[in-house]
Amino acid sequence: MKVLIGVTGSISSYKTPDLIRKIRAKNIDVEIVLSRGAEKFVGKTSFEGLIGKKVYSDLWEDPMSHIHLERSCDLIVVCPTTAHFISKLNSGLADDLLSNIILAKKSKVLLIPSMNTNMWNNAAIRKNISDLKKRGFSFMDPEEGSLACGEEGLGRLPDLEMILYEILFHLSDKSFEKKSVLVTAGPTQEFIDDVRFFSNPSTGNMGFSFALNAWLKGADVTLIAGPGTPRSPEGIRRIDVTSSEEMKDSIEGSYDYGFFTAAVTDFSFRTRKEGKPSKDDWFKEDVYLKKSPDILETKYKICGKVIGFSVYSEDSSLNAAKKVFKKGADYVITNNSSNCFGKKDTDVEFFDASLSSTEFKNVDKMILAEKILNIIGDKND
Ligand SMILES: Cc1cc2nc3c(=O)[nH]c(=O)nc-3n(C[C@H](O)[C@H](O)[C@H](O)COP(=O)(O)O)c2cc1C
Repeated sequence: MKVLIGVTGSISSYKTPDLIRKIRAKNIDVEIVLSRGAEKFVGKTSFEGLIGKKVYSDLWEDPMSHIHLERSCDLIVVCPTTAHFISKLNSGLADDLLSNIILAKKSKVLLIPSMNTNMWNNAAIRKNISDLKKRGFSFMDPEEGSLACGEEGLGRLPDLEMILYEILFHLSDKSFEKKSVLVTAGPTQEFIDDVRFFSNPSTGNMGFSFALNAWLKGADVTLIAGPGTPRSPEGIRRIDVTSSEEMKDSIEGSYDYGFFTAAVTDFSFRTRKEGKPSKDDWFKEDVYLKKSPDILETKYKICGKVIGFSVYSEDSSLNAAKKVFKKGADYVITNNSSNCFGKKDTDVEFFDASLSSTEFKNVDKMILAEKILNIIGDKND
């Protein structure tokens, strides 16, 4: 997999080297082409040092680079894209290497604009963006916030992690296209008063990895996210919840697949007090617990295929899996409690309905999610 990264002369181009590091960390090769404007902001040497090979900018240096450079790439990403470059592309001007490459392109192009809010809202730029979209160019819109010029508004380069996901989206297979996927993620928090709660160490990374990978593969994803679940791309429909009751109530509709990864706190408090009663007040009375709703058991019927998750400690993984199958799961992933919460890598066992299992040892949760989605996708074709 290879991406051609174009950089144009925006103040936010100092962020592009960091984006390139993230892209390369996903084992994606890059070629880099700078516009004349970009060279005023970040020097070629910085980019060359980063990728250990030549970075291009001069149209005349290598006469056929405007054709050859792009042909081996799967995607062109221009990050950041200036107002000027957008306008140049729309009118077909080709006065530097990067604009020539895009005129002569065969691959898809993703433009990531960043500019002052008034530039972004300028009628000429709005029209050029709208025309380019009609011609098949993809855009990732800027974010709102404080801008380098000191003003506030729309125009900031999106968060680099979100840009990375957008790039991966353009590169991924779409084997889950037209499939709807529900994912529950993270812990739940059960409050005893307005400031104290009961929970568990889940970070939401497992659920996030499934939601993200299903989205990358083209699925229509709904993520029911407990507290702390990582930020997800705009393309994922997300409902943030706190308690197990809220999580249950927010799950509606019907889905082709349901990944019930959330570490739902098994019990909650029978009563909740207002405010922050003193410690002494709490010690004057007994505290009673009640069972939290079992989300998989109550909701499995709305999903065509149900993937249950279980964390066990004393039991065997097989017994842990059997319990989840009884609740209505079609597949079960078991985690030993000693190696799951808060870790990037995990050990899991994946069981199908015949109780045959596959072990994944020390596997990154992102890679695990992709592998499991591939297995489940193939089994249901
Ligand atoms: C300090 C400074 C910051 C700039 N930041 C931006 C920016 O964020 N977005 C933008 O569209 N143009 C910005 N510009 C204007 C572009 O650099 C200018 O339009 C240039 O011609 C772009 O050339 P290029 O598109 O070939 O890179 C900035 C200019 C200066 C001097």
